[in-house]
Amino acid sequence: MWIRQGILLAFSAGFVAGENGLNGWLRYASLPEAQRQQATSIPSVIVALNSTTTSPVYVAAQELQAGIEGVLGAKLQVLHEPEVTASSLSVLVGTVAAYTSKYGNRNISSLIADGYWLSVKAGSVIILGQNERGALYGAFDYLSRISQGNFADVDVVSNPDAPIRWVNQWDNLEGTIERGYAGPSIFFSDGLVVKNLTRVSQYARLLASLGINAIVPNNVNANPNLLTAENIEGLGRIADIMRPYGVQVGISLNFASPERLGGLKTFDPLDATVIKWWTEKTEALYKRVPDLAGYLVKANSEGQPGPLTYNRTLADAANLFAKAVQPFGGIVMFRAFVYNHLADWTVWRADRANAAVEFFKHLDGKFLDNVVVQIKYGPIDFQVREPASPLFANIPLTNTAIELQITQEYLGQQSHLVYVGPLWKEILDFDLKVDGKPSAVRDIVAGRRFNKKLGGYAGVVNVGTNTSWLGSHLAMSNLYAYGRLAWNPKQDAQALLQDWIRLSFGHDRSVLDTITKISMESWPAYENYSGNLGIQTLTDILYTHFGPGPASQDNNGWGQWTRATSTHIGMDRTIANGTGNAGQYPPEVAKVYDNIETTPDNLILWFHHVPYTHRLHSGKTVIQHFYDAHYEGAAVAQTFAPAWESLRGKIDAQRFDEVLFRLKYQAGHAIVWRDNICGFYHNLSGIPDEAKRVGNHPWRIQAESMALLGFKPTGVTPAEAASNFTAVATARNGTGEAVATLNFPDGTYDVAIAYYDILGGRAHYGAFINEEPLLEWYGNLEDRLGHAFSEKLDGHSATRVTIKNIDIKKGDVLKIIGLANGNETASLDYVAILPRGIVD
Ligand code: GCU
Repeated sequence: MWIRQGILLAFSAGFVAGENGLNGWLRYASLPEAQRQQATSIPSVIVALNSTTTSPVYVAAQELQAGIEGVLGAKLQVLHEPEVTASSLSVLVGTVAAYTSKYGNRNISSLIADGYWLSVKAGSVIILGQNERGALYGAFDYLSRISQGNFADVDVVSNPDAPIRWVNQWDNLEGTIERGYAGPSIFFSDGLVVKNLTRVSQYARLLASLGINAIVPNNVNANPNLLTAENIEGLGRIADIMRPYGVQVGISLNFASPERLGGLKTFDPLDATVIKWWTEKTEALYKRVPDLAGYLVKANSEGQPGPLTYNRTLADAANLFAKAVQPFGGIVMFRAFVYNHLADWTVWRADRANAAVEFFKHLDGKFLDNVVVQIKYGPIDFQVREPASPLFANIPLTNTAIELQITQEYLGQQSHLVYVGPLWKEILDFDLKVDGKPSAVRDIVAGRRFNKKLGGYAGVVNVGTNTSWLGSHLAMSNLYAYGRLAWNPKQDAQALLQDWIRLSFGHDRSVLDTITKISMESWPAYENYSGNLGIQTLTDILYTHFGPGPASQDNNGWGQWTRATSTHIGMDRTIANGTGNAGQYPPEVAKVYDNIETTPDNLILWFHHVPYTHRLHSGKTVIQHFYDAHYEGAAVAQTFAPAWESLRGKIDAQRFDEVLFRLKYQAGHAIVWRDNICGFYHNLSGIPDEAKRVGNHPWRIQAESMALLGFKPTGVTPAEAASNFTAVATARNGTGEAVATLNFPDGTYDVAIAYYDILGGRAHYGAFINEEPLLEWYGNLEDRLGHAFSEKLDGHSATRVTIKNIDIKKGDVLKIIGLANGNETASLDYVAILPRGIVD
């Protein structure tokens, strides 16, 4: 037996009954007594005006009842019409119209669709929505206040900043989710809509509490079979379940459906039979889902079919659908994510970042009024740092929406903590200065800047069946911030985060401070250890988009180029010498980006191709900045788990343990990132690190230098994903043993063991000192972190475990044993014996 009890316990799930995350920020947890006492007068009854059981007003009353009971411990009766009696100490909820017809004119003229008026006066509460879902939003606002111990009198009118506040799911009909990291779909399985829609209803509740008013449940890479009669009926059931929450359903379309599903010979958008096919399908859909929000279309992108096949324009395609849904009040979200993924990388002036403007600018004014062009926040693809997409500034006659990504595809896939609110804020607040006038992105997508009626937000969420929704409890701050920003983008990212913390984890000051600190540090840290200075995330773009893979960016058609050579790096997007992308921005912004002197450091490599020795505004060279940033970022990531550990006992056991496991994982993988990226550019440029850290690991024992039995040295891809470019691995189904005599001074150390956790099995490991068991563990991250890493030894699968505070004497013998399992070989990269304060 290898097992030492205490260590095993620390790694077990610690299954003390606790919360599982299902209620997200809507836990309605009982307020601490001190705060409860501030509620001097609690309403005694809830009055719901004009509500049938399927109305959001009815749901609002239910929520108010559950919330007040949970938070304050008082079970209030709900009175529905016609039994209404006005009571001075009631919570009254309904629409303005219902109130007016009952109690006389209550004209709140500043309310717009979905908006609400909330009045709290000495314990008497009135919540009036401009429409039914507005009333529900107002109820959630009130509940959020009391859940946070805020009983102050208030009289507010709250209106959404933009009419479109959608979420997109990338769920496939088979039940998998593209870029989903929290288990299978809650919507689909085996080609059909699932029978039990309980989770869908719970999701709708979370979305409604943020003011989200529509969802597209199926992947933008859409399956034509969504439009079979059986699936239309299924969509109807989804819509029925979500309707009481005011969440409408829209769907993603496969552009070739008339051919692939309908059996037509063509899917030409101007062909009469194709138009007829879509018209009839649309009628069938609206028959079952009369409030269908509309369509989402990804065409001519990444291999998806589209109108260009027939020499038709993207506007022809969008308008085809716009006409079909127009009689029903539907809209078409047409994605601007159109580019050639087979671009010629040898052409210096070729640039994927130019694609959206090239495809859409000349179509401005050609889209029908119910078309909205949905634009990813940056010109490429949800990278850790991008400038705002220039397309926002280039189509003033067209409705636009911004697409943000809650699922952290390029930001650590929920296995790393990255609070993205601050990134979104930078983009939304960015002033594009169109025609020399203030033109913040948020004002453009709200329709204000160019006087458009439609516009807003689309967030790619990808929740799954995991009870934490996103796979990570802390990642829920991103969904929360997304919804709140879509309602009001002027809000502060940290303030939103703190609302979410209080609602999700309670009122303890240290809980608030600690989660605030690690969350606010998380995006800068991730940027530091993934990709700096605007070079993008530097992940392996040809595989899972998770771990490091800097070489994969260049020399292929995907266009996420860095143009890294042995002497230079960065995309030249200047007007005179480069791809001209800087010139797609309005003149005042173009001038800043076109000139290396005025381009901010954090975007220098996005816009300029420079020697590694180029000096930044900060005074550092590019290469030294890379090295320093990676060491700094990885060091910050080491502090997250200990910070979280300081909250032990203040957070329920299940969420505490699950978060801790992820933060420890992140600490190890941040070092994988650091070493891989630093090693890659060190190798490529040959320029040493001034601080002599890169390639210099005095506290590591490389696996290949240990006495090996069964383990054999092996290369990994990329080579920098192994310390000293070499790891060791067993054969399939083999066993390995690696032994080393420790030659460090006597002392207390942390022992970090680096290995690879690949798909296809759960290898079994043990570590021993002088034959005494130190740790037993399994290569089962795919289960514990809930997503697929890699089938190979690489930057995705590279990971490490750390055992803290081990007394080591010079001459002690360290042994690692590994047992392969299934297709997973046992592997080892290095062991680091780390004195206190050393991160390596
Ligand atoms: C990214 C992502 C794809 C997705 C695409 C899109 O490229 O990796 O999985 O389909 O974006 O937004 O359409």
